[in-house]
Amino acid sequence: EQIAAPVRTASGEWTFDNTPDSDPALPANQEWARRITSRIATSSLGRETAAASRISDGERLDDLVTQTAKAGDAWAAKPARERAEILHRAGVELGKRRGDLMEIAAHECGKTLDQGDVEVSEAIDFCHYYAEQAKDIEAVEGATFVPSRVSVATPPWNFPIAIPCGTCVSLLASGSAVIFKPAAASARVGAVLAECLWAAGVPKEVLRYIQVGERELGQRLMTHPEVDRVVLTGGIDTAKLFRSWKPDMRLLAETSGKNSIIVTPSADLDLAVKDVVNSAFGHAGQKCSASSLAILVGSVGYSKRFHTQLVDAVKSLVIDYPTNPLAEIGPLTTPASGKLLRGLTTLGSGERWTIKPRQLDTTGRLWSPGVRAGVKPGSEYHMVEYFGPILGIMRCDTLEEAIEWQNATDYGLTAGLHSLDADEINYWLERVEAGNVYINRGITGAIVRRQPFGGWKRSAVGAGGKAGGPNYLAGLGEWQPAEPSRPNGEVVLRSRILLDARKVAERF
Ligand code: SER
Repeated sequence: EQIAAPVRTASGEWTFDNTPDSDPALPANQEWARRITSRIATSSLGRETAAASRISDGERLDDLVTQTAKAGDAWAAKPARERAEILHRAGVELGKRRGDLMEIAAHECGKTLDQGDVEVSEAIDFCHYYAEQAKDIEAVEGATFVPSRVSVATPPWNFPIAIPCGTCVSLLASGSAVIFKPAAASARVGAVLAECLWAAGVPKEVLRYIQVGERELGQRLMTHPEVDRVVLTGGIDTAKLFRSWKPDMRLLAETSGKNSIIVTPSADLDLAVKDVVNSAFGHAGQKCSASSLAILVGSVGYSKRFHTQLVDAVKSLVIDYPTNPLAEIGPLTTPASGKLLRGLTTLGSGERWTIKPRQLDTTGRLWSPGVRAGVKPGSEYHMVEYFGPILGIMRCDTLEEAIEWQNATDYGLTAGLHSLDADEINYWLERVEAGNVYINRGITGAIVRRQPFGGWKRSAVGAGGKAGGPNYLAGLGEWQPAEPSRPNGEVVLRSRILLDARKVAERF
């Protein structure tokens, strides 16, 4: 099975393992896919670790935080190169357990094999990238980085491998001890991830993996006086809840999105169809980065070719549980309910189904994707994140209008443009309001280092760099001026890690 060992190129850079290598459609990988899929239904991975991690007693929780703080002091005192060595090894451990991680993500969260595979690759990239960044931070001249002592990592279930890994590893690289509290729906994926980090040499007392079932205990953890940082990826409502518990919490949160792709008449329409479909329906639309809207400019809105190709592409998707290695769209992680169920079954005023979503079995989890046309600016569908397999189509006359609609939501996570006209691209770049902007590419699946990931507006809470980008670790602690400072008191930070890459890196 694949082992993704870090490799240095001649120029001294790390090469990253972001190539999906178990595409089950390739004959060479069919045996590999068969072995994974045969285990998904009855997987027992992570069960013991997860069972041992439950905490239901407040005093035990307090004690654990205190012990973690003590263990964290020794971790913070290690030279960055020692922490980096361990975290590079973590990348190797994840590569060794690639198949296990794909199996349990499929079992617990319904991740299809191809989606699980790229997540493992992204997680490996995070390990190597942040390991190297830890050394950069330590080498900054003129200031000293002081890590948090105990951080809580509270990641989501929709990227159950990559996001928890990136969050825990970045905090560990920065020198903080970490209490990793996985989402309940992906607790066993989290357990296998924690096992990989421990196997690499991260002490169990420095990376705690715990589950707290009750909200009171969750609140007790997040507001504990010895917890000095919380890193959340989740809904905006969760971020608000945390803030209400502790208004001065050092909270770094990546939250919701309502993202769209604009397609202009100058676009390569074949490419646009592929990118719109993949961005809308990958992992059944359960991505904060997903494109739930396509905004068609001018003649594209009336293009028979575009609409026929879009419908054909959506109808050709293989929708099935990940036990089918060729499944392209898997099930929802939990049965559709509330807002998502409404989005799958009802239309707003003036809207019509181009493809009506269908519930494919009695579980409430497996849905064929839906495409709704006639979405009106300002409507509920335009503004609200549904987090499921629905794509809305909006039609407008000009690029200016399209940008206005793209920017009209409260969120600003990802945004896309398909156009082959340089003037249009520049016009859009000057105006788009999103953290990650993509041109002639899908708008999900940011690549570590190349496309640092993070939002604007209500998609981000708390100041900090973008995940997988050059400023991220620097934002996870405090900076103290080193002595002596410049005569005028100015502190000069001379590392490339402090460049503001927010609007630069994602345009590559
Ligand atoms: N980083 C993921 C993406 O780009 C979202 O969390 O799709």
